[in-house]
Amino acid sequence: MIVTTAQLFKHAYGKYAVGAFNINNAEQAMGLFQGAVDAKSPFIIQISKGARKYTDKRMLEAVIRAAGDIYPDAIYAVHLDHGDEETCYDCIDSGFFSSVMIDASHETFEENVAITKRVVDRAHAKGISVEAELGMLGGVEEDIVVEEGNACLTDPAEAEEFVKQTGCDSLACAFGSSHGAFKFKGRQSLHFDVLEKIRDRLPDYPLVMHGSSSVPQDEVARINAAGGEIAGSMGVDVNEYLPAAQRGVTKVNIDTDGRLVWTRVHREFFQKNPEQFDFRPPGKIFIAEYAKFIASRCELLGAAGTLDDLRGSLKA
Ligand code: G3H
Ligand code: 13P
Ligand code: ZN
Repeated sequence: MIVTTAQLFKHAYGKYAVGAFNINNAEQAMGLFQGAVDAKSPFIIQISKGARKYTDKRMLEAVIRAAGDIYPDAIYAVHLDHGDEETCYDCIDSGFFSSVMIDASHETFEENVAITKRVVDRAHAKGISVEAELGMLGGVEEDIVVEEGNACLTDPAEAEEFVKQTGCDSLACAFGSSHGAFKFKGRQSLHFDVLEKIRDRLPDYPLVMHGSSSVPQDEVARINAAGGEIAGSMGVDVNEYLPAAQRGVTKVNIDTDGRLVWTRVHREFFQKNPEQFDFRPPGKIFIAEYAKFIASRCELLGAAGTLDDLRGSLKA
């Protein structure tokens, strides 16, 4: 059942975070639905601009509709990830999306406000929620002097002002996470002090953490042992997901870790079976492994086991 992102956030706020997972194809969709249903967890499907272009935007929508039929117990929202203004309007008009993200975080504060406000007005007219972003994610490292590191982090006072001026429904904030597989050279901790200051200025307001992959070291080692060359990197500590959720983070974005699962499965399969050229056997393994990964993330986010209570609250 597709629900609004706002409904998911209302149920989750302060208790758990909803995992937001990017999909690009049918195998990812099947693994995602299976894993979330196994964990009895709601989830958010994210579609990036690149994912919409990979095959065709209509293809992904059809895949999600089919997965929804195959897994009737699933409760989820469909979200545009890192949209520009034009893509936001396309998704708002499609009638398929629960929410869109307008990412104008690279613009000045004033320009970010102006762009976000335009998208909010168009989205709200159709009952669609908007996630915006303030601050810049990056590889903020523990050994960087605080002033320099904090230069990219979200300013709590600006966050309050930004939400007031734009009316956006959730805000992606930079407080120490980073996109991609090459996040931090050393151990990295989230800046909970910054998150708490944002939460205090925006109480009961849904915050979003991008760049939340953990880059499991055993996964990277297996990829490299099977012929990969992924340089050493550390991700977000999975034990920090729940503390972040308890401080107002309701949506945790994970994409890179899923790509690592895909790469490990396919490299290992074809290394062990060099005579093989049928992509379906590794595809089947990937779906099962991705489902296990999704279920494990739902557990760590505190979302596992919440589905029945959520279903009840949606009926009430
Ligand atoms: O943060 C970006 C997401 O990981 C989506 O990546 O634009 O390559 O689909 P993509
Ligand atoms: P990762 O690269 O850490 O998976 O982050 C994904 C993300 O933020 C998608 O918007
Ligand atoms: Zn992101």
